[in-house]
Amino acid sequence: MLVLGIESSCDETAAAVVANGERICASVVASQILTHEKYGGVVPELASREHLRAIEPVVDEACQQAEVKLRDVDAIAVTEGPGLIGSLLVGLVYGKTLALSLDKPLVGVNHLEGHIHAVVLQNKTDRAAGKVVAEASLPAVTLVVSGGHTSLFHVASSAMNAEQKPFHYRQLGRTRDDAAGEAFDKVAKLLALGYPGGPFIDKLSRYGNPHAVDFGRINMRGNPLDFSFSGLKTAVLYQVRGTELAREAEARRTWRRTLDKPALDELRGQCSQSTLDLIASFQRAAVQDLVERTLAAAEGLHVDNVFVTGGVACNSLLREQFVDRCGREGRQIFFPSPALSTDNAAMIAAAGYYKLLAGQRAGVSLTAHASFPLDVEQN
Ligand code: KG4
Ligand code: ZN
Repeated sequence: MLVLGIESSCDETAAAVVANGERICASVVASQILTHEKYGGVVPELASREHLRAIEPVVDEACQQAEVKLRDVDAIAVTEGPGLIGSLLVGLVYGKTLALSLDKPLVGVNHLEGHIHAVVLQNKTDRAAGKVVAEASLPAVTLVVSGGHTSLFHVASSAMNAEQKPFHYRQLGRTRDDAAGEAFDKVAKLLALGYPGGPFIDKLSRYGNPHAVDFGRINMRGNPLDFSFSGLKTAVLYQVRGTELAREAEARRTWRRTLDKPALDELRGQCSQSTLDLIASFQRAAVQDLVERTLAAAEGLHVDNVFVTGGVACNSLLREQFVDRCGREGRQIFFPSPALSTDNAAMIAAAGYYKLLAGQRAGVSLTAHASFPLDVEQN
């Protein structure tokens, strides 16, 4: 079954063709980084406009790369939420229109469910390519960590029942304020490192001392599997405000305007050792919190498989720490490749495939939801 996936929940317009939920025939992502860069964050109105411009060429490109015509596709899967409403509507209406005009089945996919399926898709792709990797089987404790989300789920496969729910999701915790990626991006914006900030912080942290600033542990009242990153972000602000680091950041901001894309070494050359130490210490505190809460959930639920997905899953320290801790605790850790960790449509097509297999179909009433919890009620 060839599924065309469409994703437009935030600032990437993406289309992909995936065969049988396991073989990526094409995956095309049009990024809007250049549009939003000067604002240091996604501007919703601009994002919708860019999606409108990109959706048709991106879908065409995916079909061309997969060497299929739209009429050869067996079904269409489209992100229905959560996300920016204007952005979501562009992909959703496009997908719905294709499905209606070509008379193909349509299914709506939760963006978070897509991120979770990216792990399974990666694992299937690796195994099909002959890589010796364990099977990413369920149940799994899953951390979805990106610019918009930081949530923990217990994911299980459910025996097909009357409601035909192929996967069973139970939310264990969520961020109460900023998503982890948002904190990375805001700290990078404060220090004028570049946009989006996560990859810059990741790379520059290698040159800093992660123990230079002790941010302490993040304490959570109530559910210990919830997250909170706004306090850590504010603690970084207090380290910077009114100090030499702030003046240095302003100088860097001016310098950055003169360059399109500075090389990492050039950017590093514009950062004092104190700035690099602060960046590395922030990253360590954020990563430690993500790793500890996720593994506490796995331990509490006696689950041996851990999935980590979403844009922040690209972070090298996060990967290192999860691999190290899981190795010592006898758990299996699974990540998608970086390209499948950040927003893409292959994950939407893969998640949609299982829903289609289970007989789920969306009608013309399918609509976008800015907020769209992923749990057993909905799936
Ligand atoms: O999954 P994604 O593409 O979009 C959302 O659904 O939010 O994630 C984007 C986020 C951004 O906040 C970006 O800074 C972060 O992922 N990110 C990283 C890294 N690569 C991307 N954060 C930390 N380290 C990275 N290497
Ligand atoms: Zn995402």
